Amino acid sequence: MSNYSIKNLEEYYQVYRKSIREPENFWEEIAEEHFLWRKKWNNVLSWDFSTPQIKWFEGAKLNITENCLDRHLINRGDKTAIIFEPNDPAEEAQHITYTQLHERVCKMANVLKDQGIKKGDRVCVYLPMIPELAITLMACARIGAIHNVVFAGFSAKAVSTRIIDSDCKMVITADGSFRGNKSIDLKGIVDEALQDCELVDKVLVVKRTNADVTMVEKRDVWLQPLMDKASSDCKAELMDAEDPLFILYTSGSTGKPKGMVHTTAGYMVYTAYTFKNVFQYKENDVYWCTADIGWITGHSYIVYGPLANGATTVMFEGVPQYPDFGRFWKIIEKHKINQFYTAPTAIRALAKQNLSFVENVDLSSIKVLGSVGEPINEEAWHWYNDIIGKGKNPIVDTWWQTETGGIMISPLPYVTPTKPTYATLPFLGVQPAIVNENGEELKGNQVEGRLCIKFPWPGMARTIWNNHQRYKETYFSTYENMYFTGDGALRDEVGYYRITGRVDDVVIVSGHNLGTGPLEDAINEHPAVSESAIVGFPHDIKGNALYGYVTLKETGESRVHENLRKEINQLISERIGPIAKLDKIQFTEALPKTRSGKIMRRILRKIAENDMSNLGDTSTLLNPEVVKDIIDQRL
Ligand code: WTA
Repeated sequence: MSNYSIKNLEEYYQVYRKSIREPENFWEEIAEEHFLWRKKWNNVLSWDFSTPQIKWFEGAKLNITENCLDRHLINRGDKTAIIFEPNDPAEEAQHITYTQLHERVCKMANVLKDQGIKKGDRVCVYLPMIPELAITLMACARIGAIHNVVFAGFSAKAVSTRIIDSDCKMVITADGSFRGNKSIDLKGIVDEALQDCELVDKVLVVKRTNADVTMVEKRDVWLQPLMDKASSDCKAELMDAEDPLFILYTSGSTGKPKGMVHTTAGYMVYTAYTFKNVFQYKENDVYWCTADIGWITGHSYIVYGPLANGATTVMFEGVPQYPDFGRFWKIIEKHKINQFYTAPTAIRALAKQNLSFVENVDLSSIKVLGSVGEPINEEAWHWYNDIIGKGKNPIVDTWWQTETGGIMISPLPYVTPTKPTYATLPFLGVQPAIVNENGEELKGNQVEGRLCIKFPWPGMARTIWNNHQRYKETYFSTYENMYFTGDGALRDEVGYYRITGRVDDVVIVSGHNLGTGPLEDAINEHPAVSESAIVGFPHDIKGNALYGYVTLKETGESRVHENLRKEINQLISERIGPIAKLDKIQFTEALPKTRSGKIMRRILRKIAENDMSNLGDTSTLLNPEVVKDIIDQRL
């Protein structure tokens, strides 16, 4: 069907117009053509953003694992579904075919059933990036259990909060995980977490590190012996289109994390269709997304999207800096990666390193480069484009969220001309709106405001687990009849979108709204600067002033900070205007980051405001130790 192979921008606009003029027909055609249904839907879409209630493909029956596995067995049985690249480069990579993956998923599904898991039960998954993680997700989906993956870097407290919130019955974990030259005691963390969780009566443990672990009698069971005994025959549970597929927690600006609920049919259709289009995956390509399956990017674009397309998807257990900063590039060379999808924070870290890491490897297999998770700054974009893409591979800067399930705004490679720092155009069927603070939609081009979505798309989360009211308040109450993303965006003169960052990161200085993203872009252009974060702090006259935290590149030469401060402000003056000059610039070793690599601006804002009483929980940070240093050296 033509939708799967849009050849040029004109065709994109044609199909796009159709997709928003007749959304039901558009999605129905895609659903008809590309998936395996046990029963077709009675109704493509019913929706009401005021309650909010959203249903796609109501009445349809299916199982997502039949779409990701069974249907590929005839033509792709011997094709590699998953390439597992271990943490230690000396350990051999594993190539798991569709036939083998199907068998392992079915066995695991039978293990879950034998251990008492039924349709609708919640299963907490706390595993490293090993094949069992992907297998567990699909084993749950096979029998209709709802997986709740918790990133295996979260603390015991974070694990127990999530287990309790979603009433999980079982936890699946490992004896440990390898990350670079460290190993982490996952089982110990689960043991600690479970002290607070009475409902969990079973823990399945995968052997990975061979670490010494304590097995709690009756509760804890090694997985492998059960797998060895399990039958590889497991009929897929018949699921309703709107049955929950998984819960995934995302942190809110306040309060406890929100358990976003994704349902079966819409999520499947959306992730598969976006994957195919945004990465232009072709039958023999090898695709690699460096995210962890503990995040939505891994769910949608390591597991479900690629496998629904019969793709070969890479799972990497390790970290970009182990054994050295050339690891990513060596993996690309080794597996001849065609589509590479990573995050700006990784790009920036790698761009800081000696160029020899890149120069000594063959990256010629690459066709498409992807970026996700935060706005990509101009300098990183160019480095990615020039050094990794050699100026010939399109960058797809994909904007989306845990809540959206799949990619919402992105170039289509070789179709949409890219523009640095722009996510460019809405995906087919996606209807963005930019609104001002009063909720009025700003039509036309060259406007800036808050990003909303006006019409449902199949991949959207349907609710927050156990808290539909919070779902309504967070996403559907700020602006009437629109989904509010929490992000700011602008639309340029040709209709391209640029995501300017979370709206709570806008600082108003002397009545001028300043997005911190563009300011940081400007600062990052300074040759000595590695990364920066700007926050607002109260100022007597201007209302707010700007506080910049800046990390410097390790160039070996020592620079006088006072001179650097002048140069940085000069740069800002040139790029944005004198109004945007920073009042304070603090040089720091590192910026506090979440485990997914996002800068924790909330903490930086508090420090800038000199309000250290209420820093919140810093224990889930990637690098909690930097917070103290930043406080000590506060200006
Ligand atoms: C930000 C990750 C700019 C944005 C898939 C969003 C981005 C939040 C981009 C969601 C991008 C994600 N450009 N900003 N290409 N992609 N974001 O839930 O602020 O971890 O709201 O989902 O990341 O983060 P989440």
